Amino acid sequence: SSKRVVKIVEVGARDGLQNEKGTVPTHTKIELIERLSSAGLRHIEAGSFVSPKWVPQMADTAAIQSHLIAHPPPASVPITYSYLTPNMQGFTSYLAGAALSSVPSQHSSEIAIFAAASESFSQRNINCSIAESLTRFRPIVKKALAEGIKVRGYVSMIIECPYDGPTSPSMVADVVEGLLDMGCYEVSLGDTNGVGTPGSIGRLVNYLIKERRLPSEKLAGHFHDTYGQAIVNCLVALEAGIRTFDSSVAGLGGCPYSKGATGNVATEDLVYFLEGTGVRTNVDLQKIVETGDWISKELGRKNESKVGTALMAR
Ligand code: HMG
Ligand code: MG
Repeated sequence: SSKRVVKIVEVGARDGLQNEKGTVPTHTKIELIERLSSAGLRHIEAGSFVSPKWVPQMADTAAIQSHLIAHPPPASVPITYSYLTPNMQGFTSYLAGAALSSVPSQHSSEIAIFAAASESFSQRNINCSIAESLTRFRPIVKKALAEGIKVRGYVSMIIECPYDGPTSPSMVADVVEGLLDMGCYEVSLGDTNGVGTPGSIGRLVNYLIKERRLPSEKLAGHFHDTYGQAIVNCLVALEAGIRTFDSSVAGLGGCPYSKGATGNVATEDLVYFLEGTGVRTNVDLQKIVETGDWISKELGRKNESKVGTALMAR
């Protein structure tokens, strides 16, 4: 068909669970990832190789990685799993796990590095300045690319930081450029605390694409839904030419270093919105709705997806 296709990066098993207070059993995380892939999601963040002292919930990422390597989904549709690696130590752990994969697979994995457009958040999240973080990331990206591993970048606090106030679009552009220049294939624009509106997100993405000439195909929208603006922010980003969006099943999540921040735009809501707008996602809405209902019950949480709640009530 002539429908446009959008890429969805499912971050529920990482962004969605990293902030969960109680321990989520490893087998529950694995079941979540398997349900997500069988619902048609092709890009799935599976965990973070971060300090377990900083983010205890991600401490079992190596176990998840080795399970996914040992039990690949059917080869018919290739899936990419990705892992956050904030420093060389995290990347080394990722590589050690990836090396266990001896069987050639249709599936692949990649890493993500994460920077910020606000100094205070950079310090609180990864314990270094923005400039230091870029210096730290460069050798990781170099090594990853030499090993044939793709690297995704993130920029947090693209609109406003709870510690530093409003973020300047030129700061966002500088960090995006820094990440693309070092070899990231894509940079995800994080409205970490969900304060953006169609006004501020629209101005930012148009500035990045039109004034700073950043390629729209290398940008992604990562919109948290704290203020209920995430779907409409996806719409303005879509209209500006962005074709990749991050979302979290049942709207799970929040960032441990951004107080009060809630989950990402719900995958169910994103799929319903995109398909309704004439954009193809290749995601099975009914299956993702059932997955959102299941994980919400497992976590004892309210399902934050409006579409999920509506369809479950039918
Ligand atoms: P640090 O304390 O400066 O690290 O933390 P260090 O290098 O000084 O090492 C201190 C200790 O940590 C040592 O252990 C290291 O071994 C250990 P000790 O000797 O004390 O026993 N360590 C590690 N352990 C496991 N894996 C590692 C690792 N590195 C050091 N990779 C560090 C710096 C970056 C490690 C820390 O600040 C950290 O882990 N931060 C992660 C924070 C995080 O995960 N935040 C959430 C993800 S970002 C996000 O959610 C935003 C996003 O969704 C986009 C958006 O919404 O905007 C992506
Ligand atoms: Mg996030």
